[in-house]
Amino acid sequence: MTNDVSPRVLNLAWLPGDGIGREVTEAALAAMRAVAEPAGVALAVAEYPIGGAAFDATGDPFPAVTRDGVLAADAVLLGAVGGPAWDTLPPERRPERGLLRLRAALGGFANLRPVAVPDALVERSPLRPEIVRGTDMLIVRELLGGVYFGEPSFVTGDAPEREGVSTMRYQEVEIRRVAEVAFQWAERRRGRVTSIDKANVLAVSRLWRDVVSEVQRTRYPHVDLEHRYVDSAAMDLVLRPTDFDVVLTGNLFGDILSDLAATLPGSLGVLPSASVGGGGPGLFEPIHGSAPSIAGKGIANPMGTILSGALLFDDVGLPELAAALRRGVGAALGQGIVPADLGGTATTDAVARAVIDHATA
Ligand code: NAD
Ligand code: IPM
Ligand code: MN
Repeated sequence: MTNDVSPRVLNLAWLPGDGIGREVTEAALAAMRAVAEPAGVALAVAEYPIGGAAFDATGDPFPAVTRDGVLAADAVLLGAVGGPAWDTLPPERRPERGLLRLRAALGGFANLRPVAVPDALVERSPLRPEIVRGTDMLIVRELLGGVYFGEPSFVTGDAPEREGVSTMRYQEVEIRRVAEVAFQWAERRRGRVTSIDKANVLAVSRLWRDVVSEVQRTRYPHVDLEHRYVDSAAMDLVLRPTDFDVVLTGNLFGDILSDLAATLPGSLGVLPSASVGGGGPGLFEPIHGSAPSIAGKGIANPMGTILSGALLFDDVGLPELAAALRRGVGAALGQGIVPADLGGTATTDAVARAVIDHATA
């Protein structure tokens, strides 16, 4: 007998990392497998070390074995890195540096951080229901430039006269390529981009504003573009979140504003991310960190990682599997399966089981 539909194998590099990273990625992989297998998609998962765990094992937070493994994969699923045990290491050995090297190696310069408030969370949000209801924005954070990577970067001199320098730097090409991504998403969404900078003070932001305007004028005149200063935009993200569709911003502002936006659904634990645009495998990770104080307790919220799995499935052309995971998360919340960060009592495993039940129903 022949079978005309050959099963598809998806090669995933799995980087659990530190703290709650293993717990949340195990839950996400279970949910991903549960929706993939019935659809004839096999997940071939290879684990690689990253962050503090990689430093402990190899002396390097981003060892060559991990670099080779991720570059050969179809997609990369990451938990989180960092923790107090590694906070006093020299900068190049820190877990966070390993993460930045991973991102640079993969080349995904556009970090997509969707922020939505599902109906089931409207009443649980720390903000008033009428403010958060209907929130649906996409933060497009530039990920490989700005002050995270700008040179020079150093601390010099002797206490009490030391000096610290970091450099916020963008080249036109870096701004243009991430602006393109933001405008393309706006075309598929509600046709509006809010670009956030500090052009009233920073030279680098004046260039940012200029290049984003030029991209809009020359290539996306049908998309609305608004420029905002980061301070007042931060206030409006919380006061008027439904005004935002696509939010385009640089590396540092995007890091800060996306954690701020987590107040809308009520926790960092529910927000996913995808880092794309590098031409190779994408990187999928929740926006939260390693949450050291709850690591190992089995209570971390895996929803942000499961929804990162949905972004992964979208990226590799399996949108039905992505939709199943999103349906599973929405239904689990709707049924009151709520973990501690959102004010409930559901464990990581209980959340994963509920998501799987609903996603495969
Ligand atoms: P964090 O995101 O780890 O935690 C902030 C708060 O949110 C804590 O109260 C934590 O318990 C809670 N939280 C986060 N994720 C949660 C989840 N899934 N479920 C339930 N509660 C959750 O930020 P932090 O405490 O500032 O940083 C801790 C470490 O993580 C640091 O070493 C930092 O550098 C690192 N970090 C890594 C990443 C990453 O790997 N992408 C992101 C942010 C921070
Ligand atoms: C994130 C994190 C990282 C960042 C750190 C850990 C390097 O905060 O993914 O948001 O700043 O990008
Ligand atoms: Mn962050």
